[in-house]
Order: sequence, then C-alpha cells, then structure tokens
Amino acid sequence: MIHYINKIPKAELHLHIEGTLEPETMFRLAKRNNIDLPYLSVDEVKRAYEFDNLQSFLDIYYKGAQVLINEIDFYELTWEYIEKIHRDNVKHTEIFFDPQSHTNRGIAFETVINGIKKALTEAKDKYGISSLIIMCFLKHLSEEEAIETLKQALPYKKWIYGVGLDSSEIGNPPEKFKRVCDMAMDNGFITVAHAGEEGPSQYIWDSIKLLHISRIDHGVRCSDDEVLLEYLKRSRIPLTVCPLSNLKLRVFDKMKDHNILELLHMGLCVTVNSDDPAYFGGYINQNFIELWKSLDLTKKDISQLAKNSFSASFLSLDEKQKYYNEIDSLE
Ligand code: ADE
Ligand code: ZN
Repeated sequence: MIHYINKIPKAELHLHIEGTLEPETMFRLAKRNNIDLPYLSVDEVKRAYEFDNLQSFLDIYYKGAQVLINEIDFYELTWEYIEKIHRDNVKHTEIFFDPQSHTNRGIAFETVINGIKKALTEAKDKYGISSLIIMCFLKHLSEEEAIETLKQALPYKKWIYGVGLDSSEIGNPPEKFKRVCDMAMDNGFITVAHAGEEGPSQYIWDSIKLLHISRIDHGVRCSDDEVLLEYLKRSRIPLTVCPLSNLKLRVFDKMKDHNILELLHMGLCVTVNSDDPAYFGGYINQNFIELWKSLDLTKKDISQLAKNSFSASFLSLDEKQKYYNEIDSLE
C-alpha cells in the first residue's frame, strides 16, 4: 500500500509555506541573517515541537518565520518544499503564505512574493508541478490590517489566485472578516477560510453563508452538526483536512479517532494535506500513510481521496479529468 500511496498522483490544497521551515533550514537562515534563535540546537527545536493546542503551535511558528528576511530565503524555503513534494508525486499545489507575519517585521511584500513565485515557476519548468498562491489574513489581527494587506497585494493580482483566513480561530469568528472577503471577491480573488479546526461548527456555516468561501480548511468539527454534514455532502464544498496536524494540535487524541474516513464514506469531498509539515512530522504522503495505518484505508479510499484532491482544486475541468484518468489507470 505504501508503494500505491507514493506513486498515486495527488494535489495539495492546504499548505502554509512558512510551515515547511525545517529546523535545519531555520538554523541555516538564522546564521546567514544574524538572527538569535531561542534554541541551541536542531534537537532542542525538535523537542520544543510538543503542542497542547493551536495557539501553542502558532506562538512557536511565528517565531520561526522571523529567520526569513531576503527574497532568497523565501525562494529557498519554497524550493525545499517543491523538492519534497516532487518525491511524493504531488502534481499540483495551492500554497498559503502569511504576508502579515513578514510585513509586520518590516519585510517588503514584494520580497516575500517574488521569492515564492520564483521557486514555483522553476517547479513548473523542472518538474511540471503546477501551483497557485493563496494569501492568508491572520485572524488574530484586525480587519483593517487585512484590508491594508489586500491593497498591498493588488499589484500582484496576477500571481495570487485567492485569499484565505488562518491563525487563531476561537474568538475570531468569520464575520470579523466579512468586509475584506467581499472586497477580495470584488477584486476577482476566490476565498477560502480555516474553520472548524478547534472552533465550533457554526464557524463553518458562517464561512459558507456569510463569507461565501469556495473551500473550508480543516472543517473536521462539522461532525457535530447533522444538518451541516448533509449540506456539505450535497454542495460538495470541499474540506481540506490535515490529519497529522490534527493529531499534533490535539484536535483528535489518536489517529484512530480521526473522522476523515467517516466523512469520506458519507460522501463529503474531503482531501488529505500536510498544513505545516516541518512542525507536524510529515509531508503529504506521510499523512496518507498514518491514516492507512490507523484507519485501514483501502486502495479505493486512497484513490477517492486523491481524486478529491484534484476535484477540490482550482484546476480546469480538463486538467482534473486528466488526473482522474491517471489515477484510474494505476494498478
Ligand atoms: N497557520 C498555520 N497553520 C495553521 C493552522 N493549522 N490553523 C490556523 N492557522 C494556521
Ligand atoms: Zn492551516
């Protein structure tokens, strides 16, 4: 089965590029950019990656991102991720970046986007991996700050496909970002939102009904609401689920308790993703493998999850069909 997981073509739809910062890269960039880290060694960093909940992770994650200063840092970060997903047979990736984590430290918006874009262009040229960029607003900051960031992004509209909402969920309900999501859609961006990771299923409803998002990131708390489950099934609004992330952030106690397979069998469009793989112990294939080990996924489950990853993507129908055919032709 591991061979099947490795070779099946797949798309990744929930990946924070800052969450691919491996401890070794963090040290290398800290040294190059003269930044003091609160850790003495790579091992010490790894030991710090024990999280109680989303906030305990975010506190460490935002500190880690401080080693990213120059365009080349963002380029190298993104390229390292591309090398990893090339090995995992990812054919298409839709990556998040958090501009505010950088602009709030005095890094120019263009430094960040130029570095990421350069690596993604090379990914297409060298490996044929296609990609889209989704810019996220940090929910713990104000809507005014999100609007300011949206304005900074407008000159790069051709490179940024959509906007998302991430960071602390509880206490930052979707309605806080209604105006900025409307403004983004008026400017031609699609919208997605993290919801129902730790927060209540009502946040999933509100992201759909108030913000009109195209996709829910995480969304696993939908299981608390029968009506929502039926709605997600009928509308085919995708959930980009991140199993290892959910385990590390204690959304589920054990992988055996994860609800992704139940949701898949109910007919919801769920997909497998790695979220912040450098912090959560594995890239996309490792997420599939851990699910297979704990939930006994069958080949049919795996191929349906891989098909869902394309169907939930923002690729064209022709491109989606090409990948469905490739998946069907695998042994
Ligand atoms: N930013 C990076 N990873 C995140 C997650 N899992 N939830 C919310 N915001 C995030
Ligand atoms: Zn996420």
